[in-house]
Amino acid sequence: MAKTDPPADHSIPRHIAIIMDGNGRWARARGLPRLAGHRAGTENLRRIIEACVEVGVKYLTIYAFSTENWSRPQDEVQGLMGIFDEVFERELAELHRQGARLNHIGRLEGMRPSLREKVLKGMQITKDNDRLVLSVAFNYGGRDEIVDAIKAIIAAGTPTEQVNAELVSQHLYTAGIPDPDLIIRTSGEQRISNFLLWQAAYAEWIFPETFWPDFGREQLLAAIEQYGQRERRYGKVLES
Ligand code: FPP
Repeated sequence: MAKTDPPADHSIPRHIAIIMDGNGRWARARGLPRLAGHRAGTENLRRIIEACVEVGVKYLTIYAFSTENWSRPQDEVQGLMGIFDEVFERELAELHRQGARLNHIGRLEGMRPSLREKVLKGMQITKDNDRLVLSVAFNYGGRDEIVDAIKAIIAAGTPTEQVNAELVSQHLYTAGIPDPDLIIRTSGEQRISNFLLWQAAYAEWIFPETFWPDFGREQLLAAIEQYGQRERRYGKVLES
């Protein structure tokens, strides 16, 4: 198989989630401000979405901004908000053309109104697309998500005996989306960082050393290839 050929169908994960780490270090290595790294990371995201559509990944979830990221220096936070505002406006038509459905996971109420409106509009415009579901985790925290699910279950007056894993899944921000098969965290860091805590239960993890802006199509295909060689056991013993 040529290096650039997509892997065979059976090894394609249905759902890939990505912690896009290393924008800041990518910029520092080039003597650039951190925001230049986030801009380069945004450009890369376009390549990765394209590659996912091309190879038939059905769900892509990206960690764009965590509930903890608000504590970064204010100029970086404001710069990032500006980038998100621009990107949601500029890339929506292309996402739509590719047949991707935009989805948001996290707390919408924490977003500035202009951004919130763009995200809601994007979700509305793309709601019937079915080639890829792109979930953007923004103002997202895995623990908050579980807490919100518990609150909703209690508020609905659910009898204790009806509380099970399936019910919890149905109350998460990701309700209706299958759990990720593969989670990639770029830049060599090996932590979960409050991302998809519940949904990651049986995911395969890959930790490439590459900083996110350089993690392009080839690297994604290599990660999918690696995933295809893993044996997923879900806690069981596979018969030989
Ligand atoms: C981590 O790099 C990246 C982020 C905090 C998220 C920002 C992601 C983007 C701008 C990509 C585009 C996303 C959207 C939705 C348009 P870091 O700053 O933690 O890097 P470092 O660990 O090297 O400092």
